[in-house]
Amino acid sequence: MNSPAGKAKAPDTSLEDIEVELFVRALKLRHGYDFSQYAPASLKRRVLQLAHAQDTGNVSELTTRLLHEPGFLSVALEGLSVPVSEMFRDPDVFLALREQVFPVLASYPQINIWQAGCAHGQEVYSLAILLEEAGLYERTQIYATDFNEAALQQAREGIYPAREAQLWSRNYLAAGGRHTLADYYSARYEFIKLDQRLNRHVIFANHNLVTDEVFCEAHLVLCRNVLIYFSDPLQDRTLALFRDSLVRGGFLCLGTRESLDFAPSASDFAPVDAARRIYRLGSRSAGRD
Ligand SMILES: C[S@@+](CC[C@H](N)C(=O)[O-])C[C@H]1O[C@@H](n2cnc3c(N)ncnc32)[C@H](O)[C@@H]1O
Repeated sequence: MNSPAGKAKAPDTSLEDIEVELFVRALKLRHGYDFSQYAPASLKRRVLQLAHAQDTGNVSELTTRLLHEPGFLSVALEGLSVPVSEMFRDPDVFLALREQVFPVLASYPQINIWQAGCAHGQEVYSLAILLEEAGLYERTQIYATDFNEAALQQAREGIYPAREAQLWSRNYLAAGGRHTLADYYSARYEFIKLDQRLNRHVIFANHNLVTDEVFCEAHLVLCRNVLIYFSDPLQDRTLALFRDSLVRGGFLCLGTRESLDFAPSASDFAPVDAARRIYRLGSRSAGRD
């Protein structure tokens, strides 16, 4: 209803929220990247951080650059995608994979693993090392996907700051590593480069969990610290994607801050190690034969 002065009442939305909404809309209309179902509070935080990092006065300037500046899309995606990771992050999860999941994977003649949201590749190299040490790597294919092309490129190269090596070496041992992490990289000045033989069974590919479909038949899907950025309906859509990708009895491993509990698709999965968020696709559910 109009106010007494005949003017329409301003909606109860802050200018910042309007700008963020327009930015998200521009990303979709101009470039096809749909962030509309990401959790709003954390998305807004990242858009504002991007505006700050780009030294723009407001988010509308980001929108203008997104619409008109070739090359700004990758800057925006890098800012919004949070490609933060580490090798053997949450080592007890890798230990649980080694002890509870690998013995089952060993029964398959060919093992397919989908690592979704692989960021700069730290988890991929971690998995490859554990599979190598378990004698399973030669019959494994890892599909490592992310929608951040710059992150994927870095993942392919496997070059990381040397200052990370100490923490990652401790993680590796806590994950049940059998040697020393230094056996798997060479150090040069302030960088380490992971042995490129480790990615001989890895396909790094651009895949967007919001818009793309299932593309492989997986025995294990590892997707950690990605769903936390999604709204509940998008989390559920993504879980359905993983379910449709998994073979019957296949495993799903989520991040320790993520849970299946709320999701309609949860009933398809049974916990293998609830604390470490490892689940198995139930034999009654839809999975591939
Ligand atoms: C915090 S990192 C997690 C990295 C790693 N999985 C880990 O737990 O250490 C989140 C990753 O999810 C990716 N991501 C976010 N939304 C995505 C989407 N719609 N499709 C594919 N990847 C996405 C980001 O680009 C980022 O690399």
